[in-house]
Parts: sequence; C-alpha cells; structure tokens
Amino acid sequence: MDFAKVPVSARATRVHRLFELVANRGVRSKDSLFGKLRLGGRRADYDDENYTFHGGPADELRRQHFDKSLRLLWKAERSAPFLPFKDANPLERAISDQALKALSPDERAVVERMSSDAFKALLRREYTLRERQALVSLLSAVGHGEAYAWLVASEMIGSLKSTGAKAAATAQVLEEAKHFVVLRELVLAFELPVPRLTAWEYLLLEGVLRMDGLEKLFGMNVIVEGIALSLFGALGHLPGMEVLKLFHLDEARHTALPQNYFKVFPMSAWQRHNPFARLSRFRLIVGALPLIFALEDDMAELGLDAFEFGGSVVRKVAGLAKRVGFFLPVPLDGFVSSLDMVFNAYCRLTRPEHSYRKFSGVETSHRSVRGVEREILGASLVGA
Ligand SMILES: [Fe+2]
Ligand SMILES: [Fe+2]
Repeated sequence: MDFAKVPVSARATRVHRLFELVANRGVRSKDSLFGKLRLGGRRADYDDENYTFHGGPADELRRQHFDKSLRLLWKAERSAPFLPFKDANPLERAISDQALKALSPDERAVVERMSSDAFKALLRREYTLRERQALVSLLSAVGHGEAYAWLVASEMIGSLKSTGAKAAATAQVLEEAKHFVVLRELVLAFELPVPRLTAWEYLLLEGVLRMDGLEKLFGMNVIVEGIALSLFGALGHLPGMEVLKLFHLDEARHTALPQNYFKVFPMSAWQRHNPFARLSRFRLIVGALPLIFALEDDMAELGLDAFEFGGSVVRKVAGLAKRVGFFLPVPLDGFVSSLDMVFNAYCRLTRPEHSYRKFSGVETSHRSVRGVEREILGASLVGA
C-alpha cells in the first residue's frame, strides 16, 4: 500500500515505550499481589499475553457447543411463522419461498406459513379449554425457567475457564434468550391467564441463581434443563407444538455442557465431595420435588402421568450428575430408588387401583426425540 507516512519523533516513541513498560510492570505487579492476598486484583480471567482466557483455547469445547449451536441455530420466523418474529435473514427467507414454490398446490396448503389467527384456531380445534389451560400451565412453568436460564447462563460466562467454554456459555445465553421470548409468544397465543411460578419452582430457580460458580452447572444444566428437556420431549409431538422439538435439541446440548467441561477441567476431589456442596445440591432437589405433585392434574389432562414423568427426569438427571461427579450426601442410585418408593406410596394413597411401578424405569420423551437424547445423554439413560 502506498500510505503517506506521518512523521513521528523516534525519541518520543522510545520514551513512551519505556514509560509504558514501567507502568505495565507496576499495574500488573500490584494486581498480582492483591490477587494473591485476596484483596481484589485483576477482575478479568483473561490472559492477554496468550490471547485467550485462563484455561486456554479449549477448542473441542468450542466445537461441541458454540460451533454446533451456530450450525443448528433456528429462527422463529421460519420454524413458527404464526408467532410475531422477524428474525430470518433474506437468504433464509428466499430458501423458504423457493421450497414453497416447488410444492404442488395441495402440498403447499399443508405447509403454507400459518398465520397467527390460523394458529389460534388450530389450538381451539385441537384442544379443549381444560387441555389448553394445562398446556399453558406446563409451558409457562418452563417459560419462567427460561428466564432464569438466561440469567444463569450469562453469569456462567464469568465462572467457566477457557475461551471454548466461555464461547459455549455465550451461545447458551443467546439460546436461552430466544427460548424465553419465543416460548412467551407461544404461551400468549393461547389467550389464557398465565400462572405465576409455583413456590417449588421459585425455590428451585432462586436457589440455582444463588449457587456458587460451577455449582450452577449442577443446578441449571443438570436439574433445571433436565426437567425442561423432558417436558419438551414429552410435548413436542402434539399438534401446534412442533417448535418445542427445536427447544429440545438446544436443551439436550445444554445438559451435555457439564460433562464436556469437566472432561477438560476435572473437578477436584474437594469440589466433588465437599459436604456443604453435597448438602446444598440435595436441598435443591428435595425443595423441587413437590413440583411433580403440583403438576399432576395438568399433566393428567394431556395423558401424561406426573410420576412416570418424574421418574424419567430423575433417572436422567441422576445419571448425568453421577457421570460428572455432582454427588449428594446419599448415593445417587439409592436416592432414585427411594423416590420410586415415595411416588408409589403417594399413588397407593390417591389411586385406588395402584400397584407398585418402577417409575424411574419409564421413558416419557416421545419416540420421535429419543434419538437426540440417546446421542447426547447416552443410550443407558434413555428408554428404548
Ligand atoms: Fe432453554
Ligand atoms: Fe437451556
């Protein structure tokens, strides 16, 4: 390039460089000393000398979560055109238009972009009022959870080491934001009152937001997202609810983050066995258990047995927790069996015909999404 160079004083440059070297050493020594004395120090866990975050690039984590998230990024305008989103780019819009043009008139009528009114009519046609109320209740329960997932994921960026893991958490922030706003519009399309958080969800979600650092991976990515994954897996095949399968795909990836992260940055023995952490994990789960009982009548309206659902969730989250090393004060397998006993005792009291069932052996995710779960959670945690 033919730049018209600006004349500078070589001496001034030398003086400035020297001044910067001294200032740099001073600033960093002060922060390093304060850091060691736990009096503050450098706030960012950023390693500018190696141009990466502490923990290194962790490219595999980036590929497994950030790259994959962008590859599978879905847009509400294409996947749920009956909702008021304009998030598709011109290329995506052109591809949709081309695909529609290639169809016969009959085929086109089936896949024609559904308007918001047509969607509302579909909901009224397919579901009774009580069924719609049940769907609103279950979907809004997850919807409130998405708000917390958004907040927790943004805090995780600061707690995870390495460039790859921070990229993964950033992708999750974007996805949780999308889940929250899209699910909110989907729930509002029912035109029914939206319930607040139940006390049990409130305790669970506030508890997760308050958890320290990496413990949030247990509260959010294992417990809360394990529940959300299972609910999307159980409802995504219902008429008008197909977009939930895309949520399911994202949540499956989120539940895999702890496992992939701790493979690169293993938890210390203290982190796994710390009795205070074990107790706070246990308290979180026990505080959330009444939720299963609270959802029983809404689930029943949609043909779902809350205890089968609870059993399916408990098997998956206990399996994930065990694999990663998020132990409880009691053995995880024993905990799952004792929950089976609690569920059965309750059913014996409230269901006249009840006989013992191993609820934790049931699979409530629909057949059409089990492949995704098997790929991410492993075949041993997902029913055939
Ligand atoms: Fe989500
Ligand atoms: Fe998620």
